[in-house]
Amino acid sequence: MIFPQKIQHIICVMWHFVHNNLKSTITMSFEFIHRPRRIREKTSLRNMTDDVFVSPRDLILPVFVTECHSDACEIESMPGIYRWPLDEILSKVMEWMAIGINAFAIFPSIDVSKKDSLGSEILNPDSLSYKVAKIIKANHLNLTLIADLALDPYTTHGHDGVLGEDGNVKNDETVEILAKASLLAASSGYDVLAPSDMMDGRIGIIRKHLEKNGFCNICIMSYAAKFCSHYYGPFRDAIGAKTNDSIDKSGYQLSPRNSIEAMRELELDAQEGADILMIKPAEPYLDIINYAKRKFKLPIAAYQVSGEYSRICAADINGWLDKDECALESLTSIKRSGADMILTYFAESVCKSL
Ligand code: PBG
Repeated sequence: MIFPQKIQHIICVMWHFVHNNLKSTITMSFEFIHRPRRIREKTSLRNMTDDVFVSPRDLILPVFVTECHSDACEIESMPGIYRWPLDEILSKVMEWMAIGINAFAIFPSIDVSKKDSLGSEILNPDSLSYKVAKIIKANHLNLTLIADLALDPYTTHGHDGVLGEDGNVKNDETVEILAKASLLAASSGYDVLAPSDMMDGRIGIIRKHLEKNGFCNICIMSYAAKFCSHYYGPFRDAIGAKTNDSIDKSGYQLSPRNSIEAMRELELDAQEGADILMIKPAEPYLDIINYAKRKFKLPIAAYQVSGEYSRICAADINGWLDKDECALESLTSIKRSGADMILTYFAESVCKSL
């Protein structure tokens, strides 16, 4: 039998045991070798250890030009982005250069009366896009001028090529027009041609045309992996390419569900002589950007498209997100994934805030 005194002793021992153990968990000191937070504590250390930076020199500003009105006109679905008339474009470019932007991609919004089903205006040497290049280049500015090469600003139906009877874009006929247009763009002063049509074989044909005609130093930045995206909507407003029916470009642009095709298109454009490979849109396709960066020894461009811009602006207007902070975070993620250069409508606001 157990005596009460013994019970008291047992309870006492148990209490000490529990108490001492509790005490040691509370005051236990860890000895970690790895404490990643050490380098995050001070701003100066964080700044030194960060490894991804967005700089004005990486950014290309897409610029809309118009012959439809004489004043700058804000695009409703792209707050802060304007269509610029010809006589204002040079002073705007100089303003942008003063804040550090040195590359511009020109997108024309032409008068509807000049549009037809073949996009013939692209072969008019006095067409808006060529006039813009001549005006800017006449001033010998130290900048890179990029021509978007495609038929959609010029066609009544808004497709990037000539339509066949079956409603599909005819590949070879379209490529032939683009090859001719490439010479007009090169001779009006563009430094870089960016075919955005996704026709087969166009990089090779354009490259041959340029070489044969003495434009061997003109760069081709191919829209190599251009996805059939719903993020292009605001852009189509901007260039006036929105028809009443929504345009289905899935017969030539890539399916967002097909990464193998994207890899194949990148490979073909590299073989055909592209100098820069572009992936578009950017943030929804970071995996493809990263693949391209690892796989090819070519500079990689990413296009943060109109819808990527507008969604951040819309949330900012509603007070839900901060536009400048989110723009920079988005651009940083695009750089981190491997893009060397980024086409972005945020170029102006980011350069001002950097
Ligand atoms: C068309 C072209 C498009 C964009 C650039 N070139 C739209 C499309 O393919 O319909 C989209 C750019 C953007 O959304 O900002 N040639």
